[in-house]
Amino acid sequence: MPYGERWRVHRRVYMQLLNAQAAGMYRRVQDMRSRQLVVEMLSTDDFSASVYRYTSDVMAELVYGQRENNKIQSQLDQINERAMFILKNAAFHTTILDLFPALDYLPAKRFMLWRTQAAHLHEQTKEVYVECAATALESPVWNWTKEVRHDHHARFELEKISWEEVCYSIGELYVAGIHTTKMVLENFITACVAYPQTADKAQKELDSVVGSSRLPRFEDRERLPYLNAFLMELMRWKPISPIGVPHALVHDDEYMGFNLPRNATVIANQWGFNMDQEVFVSPEEFNPERYAEHGSDTGERLPGFGFGRRACPGYHLASQSLFIVIARMLWAFSIDSFTPRISNIEVLIRQPALQK
Ligand code: HEM
Repeated sequence: MPYGERWRVHRRVYMQLLNAQAAGMYRRVQDMRSRQLVVEMLSTDDFSASVYRYTSDVMAELVYGQRENNKIQSQLDQINERAMFILKNAAFHTTILDLFPALDYLPAKRFMLWRTQAAHLHEQTKEVYVECAATALESPVWNWTKEVRHDHHARFELEKISWEEVCYSIGELYVAGIHTTKMVLENFITACVAYPQTADKAQKELDSVVGSSRLPRFEDRERLPYLNAFLMELMRWKPISPIGVPHALVHDDEYMGFNLPRNATVIANQWGFNMDQEVFVSPEEFNPERYAEHGSDTGERLPGFGFGRRACPGYHLASQSLFIVIARMLWAFSIDSFTPRISNIEVLIRQPALQK
């Protein structure tokens, strides 16, 4: 969707659901689901599957009101299968097109078959989103779909935005929140295995601030500067979107003497920023000290959530998830690798030290 009044309406809805204050209200869901995750990890070492369950449960509950409903469950599974297909296939093609727009002029039938497939997929996805929204409206539980339907009905009619389009927008929130957060949490495990001394240090901080008699809570965050530095470094060390999401200029512009025409693709080299040796010493190393040393501000915004008007609207919700899951995993478990192979990871229960 190009930038314009229509886009702004959708964005306003996102921001109303996802601003810092609203995100604070979703902590209850994240608290409950992260407790479940910790319990589940007692009987499995498949961290990816458990984390996927955490992120998809949180999003399903917020967007559609519930998870333990067979009808909505199978609809959501369909959405996720399609999202994975798009992530694996169409995302590659669209990035190539952003980099080499001339390819878009190739005969569609022979060279751009994926485009027809993507359009078909889009239609199918839209149908599923509309069905999920209908189920969510019948749910006895509060959810974003109801909130949007109730508050924005008049505005959407005013802007001539159809309910199908609104359902699509809400469905995109559901998908956007699952795989992104899961990927960062997988990187967290990699960091713990590859740099165990950093996990040790975060655990010592948790032990002294939280103690052994209760799980870490959201309110503990401002008293955990090292853990915050750990989160900052995690987002810098392995950005899940190394070249960001390509943006396009809405009007002609000029930058450092270069004339940039309207519609030109602008790519923010997130990887380049994060690996800049003039800013970060040994940037390839995972080293939270680089933030901790400068007196890490626990309220500092995490990097890796995009730029400008299109920056990630789910930032606050995601930041809360990253904090609570990582704090609780470190508090409860020692994370180690059986063998030098990083994919073979063992999660051991640990005994948090008594509070001094
Ligand atoms: C750790 C988790 C997450 C990371 C690292 C992340 C990162 C990003 C990035 C890099 C972008 C592109 C921004 C740009 O174009 O400059 C983005 C866009 C977006 N994110 Fe996230 N995100 C995360 C979680 C979430 C969550 C939880 C939600 C929803 C609740 C969400 C919803 C979205 C949406 C809807 C967009 C598209 C915004 C637009 O095009 O205007 N994200 N995210």
